[in-house]
Amino acid sequence: MSKIELIKVKDYNELSEVAGKIMLELVKEKPACTLGLATGSSPIGLYQYLIKAYNNKEVSFKEVKTFNLDEYCDLPVSHPESYYSFMHTNLFNHIDINEGNVHIPSSVGGDLEKNCADYSAALNAATVDMQLLGIGANGHIGFNEPGTSFESETLIVTLKEKTRQDNARFFDNDINQVPTHAITMGIKNIMNAKSVLLVASGKNKADAINKLMNGPITEDFPASALQNHKGKVIVVADEEACSLL
Ligand code: F6R
Repeated sequence: MSKIELIKVKDYNELSEVAGKIMLELVKEKPACTLGLATGSSPIGLYQYLIKAYNNKEVSFKEVKTFNLDEYCDLPVSHPESYYSFMHTNLFNHIDINEGNVHIPSSVGGDLEKNCADYSAALNAATVDMQLLGIGANGHIGFNEPGTSFESETLIVTLKEKTRQDNARFFDNDINQVPTHAITMGIKNIMNAKSVLLVASGKNKADAINKLMNGPITEDFPASALQNHKGKVIVVADEEACSLL
């Protein structure tokens, strides 16, 4: 039995509210907290919830530090589908976060190994209070694809065909435009967060949620590492994502 707490909700709207509230409460309680953030479709509604709370003057993000999970390689940060752009479009441009407190792995420059080491060092110095995650249909977290060592720290990865197909929807449905590599926090970095909040919506995630909650702990299914997490792991998933449980 996993210690993971599952909160089952009706649909994406409820997921965004329930998960958004969990993150909002943390920021209210600890205004100088450190958040690990994710991109993709799953957290967009949660970010909208946080923006609404900010607009209602319920919360300030001035002292919050953030660390994003990952970034594509070979895509300029100015590209609309870079994760740098995603985070600014969907969250940072709409709240009072201090840009100096924002950390996104960098795939720019000639020494990517150094970028990885620097990012892990910054993460280790910070301690993430809550890491937000989506989950790939193949069980990836961050861009840690099946087979990645649970001991991995920030690394350059080759994206699986399935992940590139899934993400082609952001690139004119053309897989050839989807980058082949990415820089991502490793599983060990993710596991170092004090708590984890994972959000999943839709039928496409049902198999992954079933394996996350009930499957064996194996590097062939990266998210299963979360079953061994020392802190709190909360999964907020909608009815479709829970349909195989
Ligand atoms: C995003 C990330 C990925 C996504 C996953 C699910 O920063 O690291 O692991 O969380 O691919 O993506 P969506 O939410 O688009 O289904």
